Amino acid sequence: MKTTAIAPSNIAFIKYWGKKDEELRLPANGSISVNLSNLTTTTTVEFNKNLKVDDITINGKKDGKKTDRAIQHLNRIRASARISTKAKVVSRNNFPTAGGLASSASGFAALSVAGTKAAGLSLHKKELSILARQGSGSACRSIPDGFVEWLDGDTNETSYAVSLYPPSFWDLSIVVVLAGSEEKSVLTSEGMQLVKSNSFYPVRLSHIGEKIRKMKQYMKEKDFEKLGSLVEAEALELHSMVMTSTPPIIYWQPLTIKVVRLVQEIRRKYFPVYFTIDSGPHVCIICEKKNQDLLIQKLRQYNIQDFIINRPSLGTRLTKNHLF
Ligand code: PMV
Repeated sequence: MKTTAIAPSNIAFIKYWGKKDEELRLPANGSISVNLSNLTTTTTVEFNKNLKVDDITINGKKDGKKTDRAIQHLNRIRASARISTKAKVVSRNNFPTAGGLASSASGFAALSVAGTKAAGLSLHKKELSILARQGSGSACRSIPDGFVEWLDGDTNETSYAVSLYPPSFWDLSIVVVLAGSEEKSVLTSEGMQLVKSNSFYPVRLSHIGEKIRKMKQYMKEKDFEKLGSLVEAEALELHSMVMTSTPPIIYWQPLTIKVVRLVQEIRRKYFPVYFTIDSGPHVCIICEKKNQDLLIQKLRQYNIQDFIINRPSLGTRLTKNHLF
């Protein structure tokens, strides 16, 4: 049976950085994110007895590191379904991968949902989130809807993501400004390894539980300014960690700083707006929907043209629009 799933990427308000189990991808700490409506991966999977090897096409390409990771994930699915049949997989992002935008979250979420269904399995969201996590940690947060918490857990079965609120809970705009076009110089998995020997890292871990508690409280109260301030502080803490690792990693590009400064200026002069940055140069700007038009106007005024506007989104779902 041919099955297709569409999965959103997500941006973390409280970040995942560091693992307590490499193999199972158990994170050192819990995290909180929102799914992004306009950064999606669509994936079609079909297990076919005539195939001798997996036939995988990702964004029009048939080879590369991404293919190996997809095969490993298909192996996990085959093991659960107790089959050995090879699969044809076609996967496409609706955003540029070369820009280093996080495609692994949406990619592994889509492959988990389409692949398990195509293999004849019928899994609950929790099981799908556990499976997606093993492909790429942050992918587990792209399975449930809207605003999401990843419960770190100590075992494979206890580390998964749940929905805190549906997308309609809060009318936010999340504008992703593309601030570089190169592939990531340091992979997140390598960056996460390096942080373990960083002497500031234990300090981060000692207060992360309190940060998660506060983030959930500000969300519940829909206190945008408190939430935004914490989101920003968290992003800067993550980047302090990577910049002080050995060797240091600097994910920012000149445009990253320009956008950060612009966000601060708009906040000072006009309305509440905040930024966050993952392990790359792009800046995610968060504001209330009512201020979105003014934000876009200001970005254009400063000659910033390359951005993607998102709203909070559903998690991963099936679709009948197959890619082959
Ligand atoms: O799941 P990965 O390996 O792509 O790691 C994601 C790491 C960050 O994006 C920097 C933080 C996060 O929580 O999404």
